[in-house]
Amino acid sequence: MSQLIIFDTTMRDGEQSPGASMNKEEKVRIGKALEKMKVDVIEAGFAAASPGDFESIVAVAQAVRESTICSLARIVDNDIDRAALALKSAERARIHTFIATSPIHMEHKLRMTPDQVLEHAVRGVKRARNLVSDVEFSCEDAGRSDMDFMCRVIEAAIKAGATTINIPDTVGYAIPEEFGRNIRTLIERIPNSDKAIFSVHCHNDLGLAVANSLAAVANGARQVECTINGLGERAGNAALEEVVMGVRTRSDLFDVTCNIDSKIIVPTSRLVSSITGFPVQPNKAIVGANAFAHEAGIHQDGVLKHRETYEIMRAEDVGWGANKMVLGKHSGRAAFRARMDELGISFETDQELNVVFARFKELADKKHDIFDEDLQALVSATRSIDDKYELVTLEAHSQTGETPVAKLSLAVAGQEVNTQSEGSGPVDAAFKAIECIAKSDASVQLYSVNSITSGTDSQGEVTVRLEKGGRIVNGLGADIDIVVASAKAYINALNLLENGTNKAHPQASV
Ligand code: KIV
Ligand code: ZN
Repeated sequence: MSQLIIFDTTMRDGEQSPGASMNKEEKVRIGKALEKMKVDVIEAGFAAASPGDFESIVAVAQAVRESTICSLARIVDNDIDRAALALKSAERARIHTFIATSPIHMEHKLRMTPDQVLEHAVRGVKRARNLVSDVEFSCEDAGRSDMDFMCRVIEAAIKAGATTINIPDTVGYAIPEEFGRNIRTLIERIPNSDKAIFSVHCHNDLGLAVANSLAAVANGARQVECTINGLGERAGNAALEEVVMGVRTRSDLFDVTCNIDSKIIVPTSRLVSSITGFPVQPNKAIVGANAFAHEAGIHQDGVLKHRETYEIMRAEDVGWGANKMVLGKHSGRAAFRARMDELGISFETDQELNVVFARFKELADKKHDIFDEDLQALVSATRSIDDKYELVTLEAHSQTGETPVAKLSLAVAGQEVNTQSEGSGPVDAAFKAIECIAKSDASVQLYSVNSITSGTDSQGEVTVRLEKGGRIVNGLGADIDIVVASAKAYINALNLLENGTNKAHPQASV
């Protein structure tokens, strides 16, 4: 059996999903969870995108010691140098550099001839190889690239020192049988293909990202690039949990083994969802709330008599049921800090710890059992000192037959301002009251409410996606009271709009 390398790009390609940006601390938390899951390679970002991305890669490289840490870089000197610099303290560092090879990208985006692209690829790979020993090279838009040309470029990239060759289906155009065949052809036709690991990176525009990845594995690919929950641009990337459970469950078809500790899958899925504000649909394979629920009587009967009649995987093997009650009202600071530590959440100062601990106590007064998800939500929703807006109080009134009203007190840069607004419902009234003060001009693109755990005393976790001047942010808020959670999420989104900076998109032309 050969080893299938699992390469997670939740923090790079996943983050390219509109509004899914993560800050440094959040990336460290996700990085620690991925390390615990035994992910082989973690793509922590695109170092040249912004100073924030650079710092996040540095922080992940310092905090995560077991997995290889990778930064993306275009075939551009500055990108490659920034990637190497960000990875300096990594135990194992990889530079992932790429250039487009499809006729449409070369002509319209790069405005380069195929020979120029080949020359750039070789120069870039050599430069990266002089800085680190582990270099991945990707032919962007390989799914629409000419086979003969790709063979030439890849052969040259391996000769220049690339140790992994990645074949991305950038626009999600491939069909499994064809994609698998192409991977086999590349491996067979490229004379030095045995000197590199072949990898795939599939997007889900036709809903085939996982199917294409598995077809590639069946045809010789030994690395799959994927994201938690299938997060990613447009329709997303191949979902890590589906790829891993696919090869495990059908080990009769796939002659590979992978290192992943599948019990960490569900907690990590929850963590990524809570940090990014992208909820997981209930019927999502493996990590959706219904993935192991049996509704029909006949199925329940079968499962009770013999589990395998209707179940091909065990819920506990992917981490369902791991969210045991962890803390309660009487838990002290030491127990709180220890549990946070286990979740990969650390506090730089005692003051930071005190703020979150105080919020925990407030929550424990209202909610009997506190689960890991509640703790993660507490941290995700904790405001930063740079925040301009802070919710002071909110009183929402709604009654059948009457127009809902929200009375709000908001601190704006430390100054308390009071207002009240009517709305079509209490949440709408609260948002209008906030806007009455903030006058942000942002438009609401998405409003979603999720319960963090089960039970009617669960905290509601709200995502509010705001757009302003082309920038999109996801604000998060959690509270037992859904109207308060909604107001917190709206305010969080406003703060993100105020604080954030634009970053370069790696796939935009240089
Ligand atoms: O989809 C893609 O082509 C990518 C590359 C940068 C690897 O994300
Ligand atoms: Zn991609």
